[in-house]
Amino acid sequence: MGADCLIRKSEESKGNKSGGDGWRGQLIIKEGKSNKSGSDGQRGALIVVEGCDRTGKSTQAKKLVDYLSENGRQAVLMCFPERSTQIGGIINGYLSKDCNLDDRAIHLLFSANRWEQLPLIQLHLQAGITVIIDRYAFSGVAFSAAKPGMSLEWCKGSDSGLPRPDLVLFLDLTPAQAEERGDYGTERYETRQFQARVRENYHKLVDDYWKVIDANRSIDELHEVLRAIVIKTVDNVEDKELGTLW
Ligand SMILES: Nc1ncnc2c1ncn2[C@@H]1O[C@H](COP(=O)(O)OP(=O)(O)OP(=O)(O)O)[C@@H](O)[C@H]1O
Ligand SMILES: [Mg+2]
Repeated sequence: MGADCLIRKSEESKGNKSGGDGWRGQLIIKEGKSNKSGSDGQRGALIVVEGCDRTGKSTQAKKLVDYLSENGRQAVLMCFPERSTQIGGIINGYLSKDCNLDDRAIHLLFSANRWEQLPLIQLHLQAGITVIIDRYAFSGVAFSAAKPGMSLEWCKGSDSGLPRPDLVLFLDLTPAQAEERGDYGTERYETRQFQARVRENYHKLVDDYWKVIDANRSIDELHEVLRAIVIKTVDNVEDKELGTLW
């Protein structure tokens, strides 16, 4: 798992003069020229980018937010784990192998890290702003359930009730293909064997609001595929009520 949120937090905080309510600085907000999706009271879309490590999630999530903004739709980028919070700090320590935790305890902390960001997600959606999230509950379940003795059903429990995305873009690569993009890294979970089990779990989670995308193409080719799906979702949210997991 890359440290994207942590990096973004420090970049953002350099220019964060608002000193406001503590929310700012935790995400990148891109304002479109006009808020096409929000102007008529329509809620924003909730779109999640998922996949094993190094499948291009962060690259594509950022490009999607830029694309939406450039095309008149307000969009924000969020990312899990959100390492800037207290809970996120513990998760960061665990992933960097600075501390050990029981498998169930860390699973629940990953989940709590999503729950603590729920008010912010809701705020944006209600304001007509599309939220693109780099990893969500599906990562939580797919990774935890790849550990011995952790069942998929038990892992799903703590995320039950979180908003169900309008769309999950599952970027699919074999672990060998992902490894061609550079070493997995030194964080916990970053081995080919573990990633293979995570991938199996993802495939068990596929649902009708998912798009399974072959991610074995160039950054620009993949972006073109994704943006066509995303713009359709954003423009067709209308008054559809957001569901809940699972
Ligand atoms: N379509 C692609 N083809 C080749 N290389 C890519 C592609 N997309 C991203 N990369 C490169 O692969 C690496 C991983 O990309 P990225 O950080 O977007 O993946 P990720 O899924 O967010 O990874 P992680 O799970 O570790 O957070 C980066 O070096 C990136 O430049
Ligand atoms: Mg990433």
